[in-house]
Amino acid sequence: MHLEVVADDAALGRVGAERILQARADGALQVLGVATGGTPASTYRELARRADGRLADVRLAALDEYVGLPADHPGSYTTFVRRNIAEPLGIPPEHVAVPRATAHDLEAAAALFEQQVRDAGGVDLQILGIGANGHIGFNEPGSQADSRTRAVTLAERTRQDNARFFDSPDEVPREALTQGISTIMQARSILLLASGSRKADALACAMEQPPSADCPASWLQRHPHVLVVADRAAAAALSRQSLSSLRA
Ligand code: PGA
Repeated sequence: MHLEVVADDAALGRVGAERILQARADGALQVLGVATGGTPASTYRELARRADGRLADVRLAALDEYVGLPADHPGSYTTFVRRNIAEPLGIPPEHVAVPRATAHDLEAAAALFEQQVRDAGGVDLQILGIGANGHIGFNEPGSQADSRTRAVTLAERTRQDNARFFDSPDEVPREALTQGISTIMQARSILLLASGSRKADALACAMEQPPSADCPASWLQRHPHVLVVADRAAAAALSRQSLSSLRA
């Protein structure tokens, strides 16, 4: 894993957007895997400002979706991806794949999502955030390396962390459909973004503990092309060794 430490969330957004635009300029980006939530928001704002049509024919694949929310609910990730990424970049709805968590048969919806991503050629660059408990996507602690897209129960901490996106904490769904660890690991390259002191312990376990289901992000150590971009607050618990040997 390579690490780049930046000053703050605004710098994170600039670096995140630059990496994505660079991949596009290099001809290495047809399918962009998109994370939702607070962390990548600055990256998407920068992209919207700077892309100038250059990403309009990229396809998007979301990481996850809440079970039990209508797709047009303001808190759904379908809405997030449409409002914050697809519309500002000029990407048409038929080029956006989000796990269809309103389906009766979630297993079939998971299989269909994986098929859609395969048909599109697989994810070239996957953007990830990291949960305070070390999750990636909604792969909560306990998620194994061979997990695929599936329905999961959200950790209580995750529901509390995400309550800020809903009118009341009770509204946060209890289940989600998420890409699995092995689904995520199939991306050709990964950009993990981390911002703020709340993520410091999770980032340290992801980068410095032996890979294990206790800290699902630690599985990423087994991926050959991961760039971690963290602001100073999120990098605060990393060892001196990580900071000196991994800094790009
Ligand atoms: P956040 O979530 O960016 O909203 O903090 C990250 C995550 O849960 O993966």
